[in-house]
Amino acid sequence: MRLQALPVLLGVPALLAEKAAALRTAPDFATIINSRIAKETIYDFIIAGGGVSGLTVADRLTEDPSVKVLVLEAGGFDKNEDGVLIPGAFFPVPYLWLPLPSVPQTALNGRSFNVPAGRVVGGGSVVNGMVFVRPGKGELRDWELLGAKGWNWDALLPYYKKSENFTAPDQGFARKANFSYNPEVHGCSGPVQCSFPNFYFPGSQNWFEAAISSGLTAMRDPHDGTANGIMYFPTVADFTSRTRSHARLNHYERAKQRPNYHLLSEYTVSRILFKGKKAVGVEYLPTAGGEVVTAKASKEVLLAAGAVHTPQILQLSGIGPAKILNNLGIRVVADVPGVGSNFQDQPSIIIPYNFTNNIEPNVGTLNSNPKYNADQRKRYDESRTGPYVLARGLSTNLALPPLCAMTSKCHEIVARARKVDESKYLPAGVHPTVLRGYQAQRELMLKQLVAGKDSTPVAMIHWDTANSVRMYFLRPFSRGSVTINSTDPLQVPSIDFRTMTDPIDFDLVVSSTLMNRKIMSQPTMRRLGPNEAAPFGNEITGEEELKKVLAGVVEPSSAHQCCTAAMMPKKLGGVVDADMRVYDVQGLRVIDTSFWPMVLTAAPTATTYASGEKIADTIKKAYGLGGFGKKETT
Ligand SMILES: Cc1cc2nc3c(=O)[nH]c(=O)nc-3n(C[C@H](O)[C@H](O)[C@H](O)COP(=O)(O)OP(=O)(O)OC[C@H]3O[C@@H](n4cnc5c(N)ncnc54)[C@H](O)[C@@H]3O)c2cc1C
Ligand SMILES: *[C@@H]1O[C@H](CO)[C@@H](O)[C@H](O)[C@H]1NC(C)=O
Ligand SMILES: *[C@@H]1O[C@H](CO)[C@@H](O)[C@H](O)[C@H]1NC(C)=O
Ligand SMILES: *[C@@H]1O[C@H](CO)[C@@H](O)[C@H](O)[C@H]1NC(C)=O
Ligand SMILES: *[C@@H]1O[C@H](CO)[C@@H](O)[C@H](O)[C@H]1NC(C)=O
Repeated sequence: MRLQALPVLLGVPALLAEKAAALRTAPDFATIINSRIAKETIYDFIIAGGGVSGLTVADRLTEDPSVKVLVLEAGGFDKNEDGVLIPGAFFPVPYLWLPLPSVPQTALNGRSFNVPAGRVVGGGSVVNGMVFVRPGKGELRDWELLGAKGWNWDALLPYYKKSENFTAPDQGFARKANFSYNPEVHGCSGPVQCSFPNFYFPGSQNWFEAAISSGLTAMRDPHDGTANGIMYFPTVADFTSRTRSHARLNHYERAKQRPNYHLLSEYTVSRILFKGKKAVGVEYLPTAGGEVVTAKASKEVLLAAGAVHTPQILQLSGIGPAKILNNLGIRVVADVPGVGSNFQDQPSIIIPYNFTNNIEPNVGTLNSNPKYNADQRKRYDESRTGPYVLARGLSTNLALPPLCAMTSKCHEIVARARKVDESKYLPAGVHPTVLRGYQAQRELMLKQLVAGKDSTPVAMIHWDTANSVRMYFLRPFSRGSVTINSTDPLQVPSIDFRTMTDPIDFDLVVSSTLMNRKIMSQPTMRRLGPNEAAPFGNEITGEEELKKVLAGVVEPSSAHQCCTAAMMPKKLGGVVDADMRVYDVQGLRVIDTSFWPMVLTAAPTATTYASGEKIADTIKKAYGLGGFGKKETT
């Protein structure tokens, strides 16, 4: 709450802000500061971006009181609005990058989309859907096979545990609700609060049973590395207050008494400063536009601006494909062709339904019945239960089927995809190293589609209990790019998802659509009378016909952008090594989801917190800082 006045101050013209700051001799806290203080301080580390990864690493590094860290965040502070804190009041909140348009998507009938990403202290965690899940072991093994040494399940598990405070549900309720978990894979002293909800809509039960009778199995724990089947999922919510646990709360507020942790909001990092090949600081400017200022880092600059903006900063700084930089007249510091390539997200669709006989109440009742809505809000306010503990619009369970659980044609689909010349699915003129990296990824992904019980899931299917089925396509084969086309740091780069440009993606989406129908046709769902509504419809059954509908419906994003500065060898189009260090320069790491070689078949937040913990340890070890390897939080 105390935060509310200061961000307003930072929003006023720089002159006023500096005058006000000059009246104070030193910052009060750990510490919202102004640009003058930033200029006068020599930091050990400067972090560009105060989202999930940036704040996790800042928190852990500043556990050593001798280490000075500055976080620069383009967005401002949220104001603890209901839309942020109360799951059932979720959205809209004004903390997104807007506008952030993509280029027209050729395989999606030329449609353009706004790219969803958080712009606020806390980043995506302030605005996200609160789904808190982990990927499967096989996918992390694939990361390691691509060169991300030490990023396997066993190495990450201690950091998943360190990051979280998982609170077990009430045992009686958990049994009734089929909440299943394995305490051995959870931590309960970390700062990120996570828990199962204490409520579900009755329709979830019908859907769960239908998924089981479609051949899926219930997962023991969605966090134990076997993501595959059907689950009730934990959310990133405080067990007691049933409010969102976001990165500002869990990695900034808790460290506020530290005078060595500085945070400057509403400023955009525009460029990394180099002395030779060593990063020595950054240039930044007010997000609203204004004068460029510099800040110095004696040890390192850490990029955490998210998978769209991190490659933008790299390219603006002269690290990227030399050809593109030369065309814009940017001095090349390091020719690293992979910067901005390998862009991935998880395409999604909504299939609209109407039901002749649905169960009430369901999530739609909140919108259709004002009295029910008011009663349930009151129930939440008074006793922290009911539909308001769920992120508005979402229900409580998810199905994650692998391809062979959805279609008997899985081997045929994989064989067909193996036969093609994959280079034609990348942009014309793609750098040979980037192509080789893609070939390596594609082979691993194809193997994973038909890996028996170890197969990675292809879709996340979710019935909201009312009139929508949402599907998230977890395993996209298409690859996009983020490329600057201007030297102005406040200009939107050219963002091309290239969604569904590899035709195997259509096969995966069609199979998922048919799987959804299979679930809907099981007895416990069929008796609710589900009817697919336009542009879908139960009568559209041909695969080609379905593909046509899908091209007009698929959206490129689940807000899970990643992989634009991949942790792979440079000869495979990689940008960072296994310790996150950018190739061919010194003192620079990429610490956000940009470093992922391939998108994981789980929502990213849990892994982003865990990788932040691992990265902080890597850096502490490299510099002999306090708190290295520490298990418990303080
Ligand atoms: C609407 C929405 C719903 C989502 N739902 C879920 C979900 O249910 N479950 C889940 O696990 N994940 C979800 N996600 C994704 C998840 O929140 C992100 O994957 C995660 O936040 C990524 O962390 P990050 O540190 O890489 O980037 P972010 O958390 O996005 O942080 C990057 C930060 O850098 C700042 N920044 C960007 N450019 C600059 C610059 N030049 N200078 C300074 N600062 C800059 C941004 O403003 C932002 O605050 C969702 C995301 C969104 C947007
Ligand atoms: C974990 O959550 C429980 C339940 O809300 C709470 O009592 C406990 O204090 C939390 N622990 C930490 C370290 O946050
Ligand atoms: C829990 O699982 C059992 C067995 O599959 C099923 O009969 C029951 O309906 C499920 N309950 C819920 C709430 O999903
Ligand atoms: C519900 O679905 C049926 C069958 O698809 C359709 O005829 C009807 O118009 C739909 N009703 C609404 C309100 O969308
Ligand atoms: C750069 O690309 C963006 C997004 O496609 C576009 O809106 C903008 O006009 C382009 N700018 C230039 C200078 O070409």
